[in-house]
Amino acid sequence: MSDIQNQIAANGQAALSSVAAAQTLADLDHVRVTVLGKKGTLSEALKSLGQVPAEERPKLGALANEWKSKVESAIDARKVDLEAKQIELELVKTKLDVTLPSRKIHQGSLHPITQTVRKVSQVLGRIGFDVAVGPEIETDFLNFEAVNIPKDHPARDMQDTFFIGPGVVLRSQTSPVQMRAMRSQKWPVRILSPGVVYRCDSDATHSPMFHQIEGLWVDQKVSLADLKGVLDFFAKELFGSDTKIRLRPSYFPFVEPGAEVDVSCAICAGKNPTCSMCKGTGWLEILGAGMVHPRLFELAGYTPSEVSGFAFGMGVERIAMLLHDIPDLRLMFQGDQRFLKQF
Ligand code: DAH
Repeated sequence: MSDIQNQIAANGQAALSSVAAAQTLADLDHVRVTVLGKKGTLSEALKSLGQVPAEERPKLGALANEWKSKVESAIDARKVDLEAKQIELELVKTKLDVTLPSRKIHQGSLHPITQTVRKVSQVLGRIGFDVAVGPEIETDFLNFEAVNIPKDHPARDMQDTFFIGPGVVLRSQTSPVQMRAMRSQKWPVRILSPGVVYRCDSDATHSPMFHQIEGLWVDQKVSLADLKGVLDFFAKELFGSDTKIRLRPSYFPFVEPGAEVDVSCAICAGKNPTCSMCKGTGWLEILGAGMVHPRLFELAGYTPSEVSGFAFGMGVERIAMLLHDIPDLRLMFQGDQRFLKQF
């Protein structure tokens, strides 16, 4: 055997031992570079074949290539082993207990205001009220004049209105939807209208943006008794079958007569002088109502002698606070999960 032949075999053997000894993928790559790389031992051996006599070259070349592929196969086989070993190690290091219970995902819930709007709509829907909506940006005419609140009327002061342009307001009440409904259809009309309203006012019981639901029933011979019947049904459905209502005379320009409507306090029934809900009075105010003022029928194009009707309007936040015993209006608008999760 020539020196070169020995050299090639020795290099090849050494390479195989190094492959077997490699403990990591990095070790193995190092072996690959030192043996098979451009300047690697076997590559150099192949290069040096230029110096041997021509008749010996094929035999030596074949030998070198044989070793080269032996080493390559050894590297490939070792690589598979080492990769498996590495995965094994990772698995042991990052132990995962697949039997652990999963983390609870909190499902969102409907906001108490949305829930209240839906509840009220559903209760009134059952006795024939259809939902009607109006715009939040409203004309001064429909927000005020068309519901019998002319320019110099003192009732305008009761509603701290945002005027946003000549003759344009952010509606301060849902009452203009009464007018929109009557102007767009002939009587009978039986609508409820939930929506957002705005007033320039902000404290523990007032928010510059809040929700109202308006109700309107117009037909022939609709009476105050009908109003009481509807409100009684509504109160019992919403607050429980023992609930009583009472009407206190009050003034709203768009109704005559007008009333404020109270429901009996379910918490203390008037027996606790320090009741957080009714302050011991036994009654909670929930809405304003009355018989539609003839002036509205005129402005709607109806003949006042032909029809009569009643209307009512309530604050949704107030109803939600009474239903769920919520102490501060501002909780409704803070988006605090701890609060919202309870509904
Ligand atoms: N629009 C009134 C307000 O915002 C509430 C109201 C009272 C509506 C009496 C009515 C009603 O329809 O008849 O204070």
